Amino acid sequence: MADLSINFAGIQSPNPFWIGSGPPGNSAHQCHRAFEAGWGGVVWKTIGEAIVNQSSRYSALQLNGQRMVGFNNIELISDRSPEANFKEIREVKDRWPDRVIIASLMVESREQWHEFIKRSEDAGADGIECNFGCPHGMCERGMGSAVGQNPDVIKVIAEWCKEVAEIPVIIKLTPNITDIAQPGRAAAAGGADAISLINTVNSITQVNLDTFCPEPYVDGQSSHGGYCGAAVKPIALNMVERIANDPDINLPVSGIGGINTWRDAAEFIALGSTSVQVCTAVMQKGFRIVADMAEGLSDYMDSKGMKSLEELRGRALPNIQKWENLNLNYARIASIDYEKCIGCNLCHIACEDGAHQCIDLVHPDTLGVDEGPGRLPGKSIPKVRDVDCVGCNLCSVVCPVDDCITMVEIDTGKDRMSWSEYQAAMAAGDMEPIPPHP
Ligand SMILES: Cc1cc2nc3c(=O)[nH]c(=O)nc-3n(C[C@H](O)[C@H](O)[C@H](O)COP(=O)(O)O)c2cc1C
Ligand code: SF4
Ligand code: SF4
Repeated sequence: MADLSINFAGIQSPNPFWIGSGPPGNSAHQCHRAFEAGWGGVVWKTIGEAIVNQSSRYSALQLNGQRMVGFNNIELISDRSPEANFKEIREVKDRWPDRVIIASLMVESREQWHEFIKRSEDAGADGIECNFGCPHGMCERGMGSAVGQNPDVIKVIAEWCKEVAEIPVIIKLTPNITDIAQPGRAAAAGGADAISLINTVNSITQVNLDTFCPEPYVDGQSSHGGYCGAAVKPIALNMVERIANDPDINLPVSGIGGINTWRDAAEFIALGSTSVQVCTAVMQKGFRIVADMAEGLSDYMDSKGMKSLEELRGRALPNIQKWENLNLNYARIASIDYEKCIGCNLCHIACEDGAHQCIDLVHPDTLGVDEGPGRLPGKSIPKVRDVDCVGCNLCSVVCPVDDCITMVEIDTGKDRMSWSEYQAAMAAGDMEPIPPHP
């Protein structure tokens, strides 16, 4: 059986699954439940000077009956006192010495950072995570994403932390920035031991068209809040890759954002994460989801003959290139499996109106195919005009039947040539411009 244990910046964890800082990691009671369920670590709900929260504070994007596709919150850091939080960290650490507790911190002055790091260490925390990510409330007070959006300040605070910290310092980044590499490099320059990302994405999920007040509703008003859950996974994967692939950073990464399943976790690890953190999925489904995640990841690794997570970590990184390095002479086209096609013709509409007008509707007899599942006899069915298909993928992602439209590689008979090679060949006078599409 594959070994799921990890070493994250010197912190040993029995598996890569950590609870991300937020409501599920707000008390000893919850941490005990998380560890009983099998989580390897908990990043405690951010500790700082106790705050006062709003009621209400959450809203969600519900899409076609699916709940919490995206989740939004305007809550602040822990509303419990630092004393209560550090006391309970000690209690949890004493009971679960083999599990990881990271103290997430957000304070203002250098003295406070030093004090809270010392208190985290005294409580037995394995590391601290600097929350430079909250995009609401705390940033208005000069903390959270206000720090995460300013690389110079990130570097200074990382240095303050490293002046005293005897445990690893993890910098948690905000995605609310144009180039995530900049704060990542600042964290590295400040001496941070690791980076975690992403915190939540600034958002408004919906507007009530009767009251004209967005959610979450607070006495007739609302505020922008942090977006997370499944909807943010693509944003998070992209940013994790940017950090993990940057030679100027070269730090362990804890990947966060929309992780619900072992597959999500495996994708984050393949893009360079050592640990992964989960918040929204636990709020929706409870701590128990970790059992499926651990089993699924372990089975997957066994099926690939991987003995440790080191064999998976970063495996996808070399395959992410600048666009200019991709092969211009590669081609694939859509291929329809008429055994599966239900004749909905959504592919035809998508290609006709949104792509390259190369899916015709023809009588099934002209293709010599039998009636398919649910297709009306004699009803026209889609046929791809191979020569005109540009291989954009639109029809295959629109098709409601799994594996009904697959994209098939075709031999163009041309050698590999990237955009940059094409430009170099043109500059050298070695080739004519490729004619534009008619
Ligand atoms: C209700 C809520 C409260 C959160 N509070 C914190 C917090 O106190 N500190 C922090 O660093 N991140 C906080 N987060 C952000 C999460 O740790 C995580 O970065 C983000 O939600 C993306 O992961 P997810 O999609 O698994 O939720 C919070 C998220 C939610 C949903
Ligand atoms: S979208 Fe898929 S199922 Fe519908 S007609 Fe096209 S190929 Fe058939
Ligand atoms: S891949 Fe794109 S161009 Fe080709 S048939 Fe599908 S939608 Fe049309």
